[in-house]
Amino acid sequence: MNILIVGGGGREHAMAWKAAQSPKVDKLYAAPGSDGMASVAECVPIDVMDFEGLAAFAINHHVDLTLVGPEQPLVGGIVDYFLKQGLKVFGPSKVAAQIEGSKSFAKALMEKYKIPTSHYQSFTDYQEASDYLQKVGAPIVLKADGLAAGKGVIVALTLAEAEQGLKTLMKDKKFAEAGARVVIEEYLEGDEFSLMALVNGSTVAPLAIAQDHKRAYEEDKGPNTGGMGAYSPVPQISQKIVDEAVQTILKPAADSMVLDGCPFTGVLYAGLMLTKNGPKVIEFNCRFGDPETQVVLPRMESDLIQVVLDILNGEQPELLWSDQTAVGTVLASKGYPGSYPKGKKLGNLEALSDDALLFHAGTKKSGADWLTNGGRVLLVTRLGDDLRAARDAVNRDLESIATDNVFFRKDIGHRALEAAGK
Ligand code: AMP
Ligand code: GLY
Repeated sequence: MNILIVGGGGREHAMAWKAAQSPKVDKLYAAPGSDGMASVAECVPIDVMDFEGLAAFAINHHVDLTLVGPEQPLVGGIVDYFLKQGLKVFGPSKVAAQIEGSKSFAKALMEKYKIPTSHYQSFTDYQEASDYLQKVGAPIVLKADGLAAGKGVIVALTLAEAEQGLKTLMKDKKFAEAGARVVIEEYLEGDEFSLMALVNGSTVAPLAIAQDHKRAYEEDKGPNTGGMGAYSPVPQISQKIVDEAVQTILKPAADSMVLDGCPFTGVLYAGLMLTKNGPKVIEFNCRFGDPETQVVLPRMESDLIQVVLDILNGEQPELLWSDQTAVGTVLASKGYPGSYPKGKKLGNLEALSDDALLFHAGTKKSGADWLTNGGRVLLVTRLGDDLRAARDAVNRDLESIATDNVFFRKDIGHRALEAAGK
């Protein structure tokens, strides 16, 4: 089979790396891919939002299956476009992708079908939102309604922070139109985890769980980012809790989308908080998580392409997982998630051990050098029998390639170690 992966970040690199291991795959393309992905896929310079260009490429190159990584093309309707051209594609339709693209769509769905989540109100009027904040007080969470690359969320511990956050979203329009509507929701306390599933209508195949680290700095300090590292499995979240989350969240979500006439196909990602009252939804995404994918797929022993084909056929795929722990840590440009320079030289990536899985996110090759080309630059995953050992190895890997212009968190997985008293 010929496979096309749409996207060019760390998640897509991991998808391509895993797809390349499938005996079913003859030719693997990535659009636009990246210099770093060129070792596993043939990269073609077509933008993820150029649906016509991507579909024409897929037709001309006899692509049998397309996997879409990022949310923007999904929310923009790439799947509808591909299906109209008679192309096989794994991802949600434009209406179904609203589960990520519109927080108020997701919240309304959860409310209607009693899927556990935080209480919320959504606002388009600044004054009404501000009055509501005065009424409910802090801690409280504010979210831009539209897509904001994981950065449109403000967790305000005081009322002053909440007021300031509201101004940033609605008055300063930091996230432009994404902030025209703001969701204000109850603050949830507990251990967070990411539960992804391959979904087709009412068929739900849960993947191994992971825990992301959203804050920029160690000890979960600093601003929210797209994710600074992840690990899988998450031993402090029991299988019983995962099963409960599948039964009370993922299955009802998939069923309710069928009932509402917008069945979901693709990866349904639930960002969950394990509260005192059980798991509750923080957010849904309509695609693989980044960086969760970079630790979950290395643990998958099944053939990714086979399981995607099975789910597209409406069958329950067989999913097998390694018992090992995967730890993946992001190397980011100094300044991220704010502004940062590009084009800074990295150390010698070629010298990394073969046991270090290197997934490029924002890099560029210049002659023999690798340069930074984004906020999240790359991620290194290691598998090990022990979380601490895997993390130590990742830290040594990143230390060996880090320069003055980049940083990384050395404490990925700390919640698991703390829970185990280590
Ligand atoms: P989101 O983009 O919705 O995943 O939010 C980013 C991060 O903000 C989440 O991963 C949580 O760590 C935090 N967060 C979001 N919503 C809440 C909430 N209701 N209560 C507590 N923390 C939250
Ligand atoms: N790691 C969070 C996300 O992919 O949205």
